[in-house]
Amino acid sequence: MAQAQLLAGRVAIVTGGGGEIGSAISRRFAEEGAVVVVADISLEKAEKIAAEIRSSGGQSLALALDVSSPDQCAKAVTETVDRFGELTTLANVAAAATPLGNVEELSLENWRGAFDINLTGMFLMCKYAVPQMRKAGGGAIVNIASSHGHIGMPRRPAYCASKGAVLQLTKCLAIDYGKDNIRANSISPGAIDTLRAALQRFKSREEANAAKGPAYLVGRTGRTDEIAAGATFLASDESSFMTGTDLLLDGGYLAFKGTTTNPV
Ligand SMILES: NC(=O)c1ccc[n+]([C@@H]2O[C@H](COP(=O)([O-])OP(=O)(O)OC[C@H]3O[C@@H](n4cnc5c(N)ncnc54)[C@H](O)[C@@H]3O)[C@@H](O)[C@H]2O)c1
Repeated sequence: MAQAQLLAGRVAIVTGGGGEIGSAISRRFAEEGAVVVVADISLEKAEKIAAEIRSSGGQSLALALDVSSPDQCAKAVTETVDRFGELTTLANVAAAATPLGNVEELSLENWRGAFDINLTGMFLMCKYAVPQMRKAGGGAIVNIASSHGHIGMPRRPAYCASKGAVLQLTKCLAIDYGKDNIRANSISPGAIDTLRAALQRFKSREEANAAKGPAYLVGRTGRTDEIAAGATFLASDESSFMTGTDLLLDGGYLAFKGTTTNPV
């Protein structure tokens, strides 16, 4: 028997949809029947993923979007609704690459950059998406946080603080909009095999995976498709009794390493 698509009839925006995790989420949402607006600060990256989805038979539009711009967030939502009739699903994936540094080393610009994109970008996208979800009769918001929103890490105050705040923003969204049939949940990935994460501290993704893998109970870093699976679950009715919470997809890292003195 053919399996029903989990997101049939949904219209989704994926911010940072051209990135490694965002593109995996965009592809999986499309495979599950959603129309996907791939929105990224790099239009070139967004176009590539949207074209891939279309060539596999899905419906997708690429948009240039800087989530730190209120005007651009409002426009992305309006363009989505004008083109596809409604908005039911929002995956907030975009994040800034924050330089490593303690509070003395980080500039105010570094700090603000992390918060503008990692947190304020989510606030803005939710601000404009929620009224459309309400009109659509409900919706689902999936915010990508991080295991580093649960624990602190050396020389990462801006990233850790902004991701911790994502957990709290998500709870408040769930509280305020449950009455509108809008659910909001976050995902906290552990180390995922992506270039951006690898190059924070290592020369290549191979080197990063070799160093980080043993710190995980499953013996390896995570894959982008494993985060996409979680996002699909949270966006779909499979998680209909779940809101205001966090899905920890971390290979067991926090269960065993939460206060490591030798972080990887
Ligand atoms: N990779 C990991 O190990 C890991 C672990 C935990 C959490 N995360 C989170 O997962 C998400 C995706 O990370 P990734 O590893 O795929 O990184 P990535 O760099 O591949 O993807 C991030 C995407 O966001 C886009 N972007 C950056 N600034 C933007 C802006 N102002 N407006 C819109 N788009 C913007 C980038 O162009 C890029 O395509 C992030 O929120 C990150 O914090 C990643």
